[in-house]
Amino acid sequence: MPKQKNSAGTTPSRSRMIVLLALGIVSESPGPIHSQEHPEEQMSELSAGLIADMEEVFAETRGMINHTMTVRGHALEIMAEEGGDPTVVEASAILHDIGIPKARKVHGSSAGPHQETEGPPIARAILTEHGVSQERVDHICGIVANHHTAHDPEIVETIEFKILWDADWLVNFPGRHRDKTMAEKEAAISEIFRTKKGERLARQMFLE
Ligand SMILES: [Fe+2]
Repeated sequence: MPKQKNSAGTTPSRSRMIVLLALGIVSESPGPIHSQEHPEEQMSELSAGLIADMEEVFAETRGMINHTMTVRGHALEIMAEEGGDPTVVEASAILHDIGIPKARKVHGSSAGPHQETEGPPIARAILTEHGVSQERVDHICGIVANHHTAHDPEIVETIEFKILWDADWLVNFPGRHRDKTMAEKEAAISEIFRTKKGERLARQMFLE
């Protein structure tokens, strides 16, 4: 008799292992349970599974769930105009901050470079568990590993990275530019945003 599966389509014990990995309580990935590719029509099931895992990782930091879901919404809106691989865009939005709890535990800080180090192995374990293809897992983990410092040109030039970058900045911009003049905000928007749609949304949200 097969083990009962949860709403994410994974057995609770494996899902729990991933959460423990993300929180730095265990160091070994539970490894893949299956490896079939997800065709686009199954994206909503994959999306639900990734969101369920993300919510478990952020169970004690509820604000991160709201942040992540808002970033996801912006990413999907930008992608509708800019294109990109839907699986890579949505998964990288859901998992981009997944390294924060472990970074805090291991380094005592969730500074960007620590997130970029701790996030990708957790994202890889979750994505592999859900059967995402190796090529996409590599791309998504590359985005997670660059989402603060944008240091790898090969990743940074992809439209999927640019979309996640802009979606995250649409949420983070007000907090970082609260006391700036309109002219300073305008200059910052021109400098920061990497897609036409992202820049347009930023102008509507922060200048009008
Ligand atoms: Fe973020």
